[in-house]
Amino acid sequence: MESARERKTLILNGSPRKNGDTAALLRILDRELAGEKRTIDCYRADVSPCVDCRACWREKRCVIDDAMQEIYRYVEDCDNVVVASPVYFSGLTGKLLDVASRFQVYYSARVFLGADPGLRPKRGGVILAGGGDGRPDGAFVTAKILLRQLNAREIFPLVCSRNTNTLPAAEDAEAAAGVRELAAFLNAG
Ligand SMILES: Cc1cc2nc3c(=O)[nH]c(=O)nc-3n(C[C@H](O)[C@H](O)[C@H](O)COP(=O)(O)O)c2cc1C
Repeated sequence: MESARERKTLILNGSPRKNGDTAALLRILDRELAGEKRTIDCYRADVSPCVDCRACWREKRCVIDDAMQEIYRYVEDCDNVVVASPVYFSGLTGKLLDVASRFQVYYSARVFLGADPGLRPKRGGVILAGGGDGRPDGAFVTAKILLRQLNAREIFPLVCSRNTNTLPAAEDAEAAAGVRELAAFLNAG
């Protein structure tokens, strides 16, 4: 009998801080999440932003030859995508958006080429950390657009650690519980 396929999760980490608030929440996710995981450290990845060259309007690929080419292969095949980021100016960080901009190739495939982007259906999750009382709504809206672009058909409610200036995410029991629930949702897909 064929054994069940191990679930694969792509995690986009948009924080510059290796031991910061997003990292604390991602450590919990890593413990709870079953299957294979691949984390993209957006501040350190060798990925250039999309420059709207429009080559993907004519062929179903991105012509920029960098680490993104391997990420494309993983994202097409994976079952879950998690967007994790500090809130910057009520949005996602610039480096996370640099990586995310390269997923435009899937939009172009659908809209300009009328082609199937070739993305396995996925579950999605969003983890945010904000220093103040949050205003994470804008970041969550953007993250959901990105996840839908990647064919996430079910997206878990926002998990957010607020007021990290006074309560680091590592000590935020409510956010930790949220991450565990998110992991259970992703494991159950
Ligand atoms: C440039 C910049 C912009 C920020 N903008 C916001 C914001 O709009 N809302 C908020 O709640 N916190 C904001 N913060 C605070 C971070 O979101 C907060 O410190 C977060 O916990 C850092 O997460 P990290 O340790 O995972 O990088 C900002 C921080 C920086 C450096």
